[in-house]
Amino acid sequence: MTHDVPDGYTRLDLSADDLLTTTRTVRKRLDFDRGVERSLITECLEIAFQAPNGGNMNNWRWIVIDDPELIGKVADVYRAAALDFEASFGEAGYPGANVEGADRIESSTDHLRANLHRVPALLLPLFAGRTEAAPNFLQATQWGSILPSVWSFMLALRDRGLGSAWTTAHLWREQEVADLLGIRADRYTQVGLFPIAYTIGTDFKKAQRRPAEAVIGFNGLPARPAKPKD
Ligand SMILES: Cc1cc2nc3c(=O)[nH]c(=O)nc-3n(C[C@H](O)[C@H](O)[C@H](O)COP(=O)(O)O)c2cc1C
Repeated sequence: MTHDVPDGYTRLDLSADDLLTTTRTVRKRLDFDRGVERSLITECLEIAFQAPNGGNMNNWRWIVIDDPELIGKVADVYRAAALDFEASFGEAGYPGANVEGADRIESSTDHLRANLHRVPALLLPLFAGRTEAAPNFLQATQWGSILPSVWSFMLALRDRGLGSAWTTAHLWREQEVADLLGIRADRYTQVGLFPIAYTIGTDFKKAQRRPAEAVIGFNGLPARPAKPKD
């Protein structure tokens, strides 16, 4: 069921389970030719802010980049960083290359890389502080205090006919993006970079994942270890 809401976009009104199982990484179906209203991005972020976060400290920051020139510069960094990422594997090659559907993912990531400068907006979530030298408790708390909200943002987009892709490639050059945006990289941790666009069509399917029995264990690890081809 869909209904039109006053400000012009269409709510898909997906069931909770449909929303959770069909919110895909969207790259080839991002509509680069349709603008996205700031009010809509803000609305989705306000929904995201309802996610849990340690001590309710709201230690998160959210930069929306919608200046085309700045998007172009960030996209250039993303492209260079993606090459760094590829080079980091050396002779051994990318470990995800054997995963089922790897060719499709590669063609899709290549498309995003080539077109990132065309997105109407980018979201850069950050948290205050750095965790590189921190004990696992602090790392888990800092990251766990922002990742749920990022996913909520993607779900809110999906129900409004928009999409995104979780990306971390640019973090190979985190300092360069910090410089572009005037961020103190020693004080703020960038979490990822998320394109924001309407999707071309709104029909998305469930993804292939390893079978539940390969990854779930009751009272201990799963009996049969998960293998990449499961
Ligand atoms: C932590 C994380 C980092 C990712 N980094 C990138 C990235 O840098 N570039 C990209 O195109 N996709 C990236 N992805 C998207 C995954 O490749 C994508 O989730 C995967 O292909 C499965 O697709 P699905 O989310 O539609 O099921 C990332 C996803 C996660 C969760």
